[in-house]
Amino acid sequence: GIASLADTYKHNFLIGNVMSSNETANADTTAMYTHHYNFMTAENDMKPQYLSPEQGVYNFTNADTLIEWAEQHNIQVHGHTLIWHAQSAPWLTADADGNPLTRAEAKANMEAYIRNVAGHFKGKLASWDVVNEAFDGGSGIPTDWTAVLRTQSPWYQAYENGADRSKGESGADYIYDAFVLARLVDPDAVLYYNDYNETEAWKREAMALMAEELNEKWKSDERNTEPGRPLVEGIGMQAHYWIETLNPADVEASIVRFAEAGVKISVTELDIPSQNAAPFTKDKEIEQAKLYAELFLIYKKHADSIERITFWGKADSQSWRAQGSPLLFDRTFATKEAYYAVMDPL
Ligand code: XIL
Repeated sequence: GIASLADTYKHNFLIGNVMSSNETANADTTAMYTHHYNFMTAENDMKPQYLSPEQGVYNFTNADTLIEWAEQHNIQVHGHTLIWHAQSAPWLTADADGNPLTRAEAKANMEAYIRNVAGHFKGKLASWDVVNEAFDGGSGIPTDWTAVLRTQSPWYQAYENGADRSKGESGADYIYDAFVLARLVDPDAVLYYNDYNETEAWKREAMALMAEELNEKWKSDERNTEPGRPLVEGIGMQAHYWIETLNPADVEASIVRFAEAGVKISVTELDIPSQNAAPFTKDKEIEQAKLYAELFLIYKKHADSIERITFWGKADSQSWRAQGSPLLFDRTFATKEAYYAVMDPL
């Protein structure tokens, strides 16, 4: 057989991929998975829309199937994701007509959700994405991270609804609340903030400032029983790139900035498709492989700061960006140039 990705990088970082509960029954998929990966993220099964479609209803069956499978194969599991504007459960943040709940109502629902969900998985997860994709558009380098948040997020909107400006309250407060709740419920899990376009200068700075500021606030929070441990303990770099636009120097700049913020770093959803609709030529495949090699050289150089590298898909045919052939294995699960580049990036 071919050499294992996880074995090759065992002295550097964990190597992960995504799984879905229905794939645990597919022998080809599980054989390939257990050979190459020692870390797993549920591609969809642990998102709020599936875990709690309605208030008071929690469906853990699919996620539990996945986690049990991972445990049997010594694969560590990451929780993805507690608080996100997409694939969320409407009851958390809006009334039956779709209008934002009040800040107090949303906070109570967040608490119920995190107590139920993080409580259910307690002891089984290495880490959680506590908040996913909270930032929106920015131009220029922000000095105030709250000014570049995604204000259309239903969490932001509910937290705005009833915010007392005289007390400094705003829609941004949902982020701190989510991290504090997750820490209190599952103190053993490493808590991550996860986002995409994390190589853009404005977003890199916004993410780092947010972590720094929330961690500063946590220092004097009376609920903090572990002085010295950050609340936002990790930053997840989604790493959804494009062959045609990726500049590896930007990746390195973000790693350096996040490390400076004092957090752990993980690459959480790596894929590098082509933007072109045209067929994926051998030239494209080589161009892609060179980018993967450059990234892995950077990751190895900063291995002390990086916990894990997770690919977002096992083979091109199964990717959410399948059109651009983004991964290391092709539609038939055969190795691509990118696989060899990652195995031997020099
Ligand atoms: C994607 C999944 O891959 C798809 O199957 C699903 O239809 C949509 O979500 N950022 C994230 C992931 O944090 O959860 C998304 O996953 C990709 C973008």
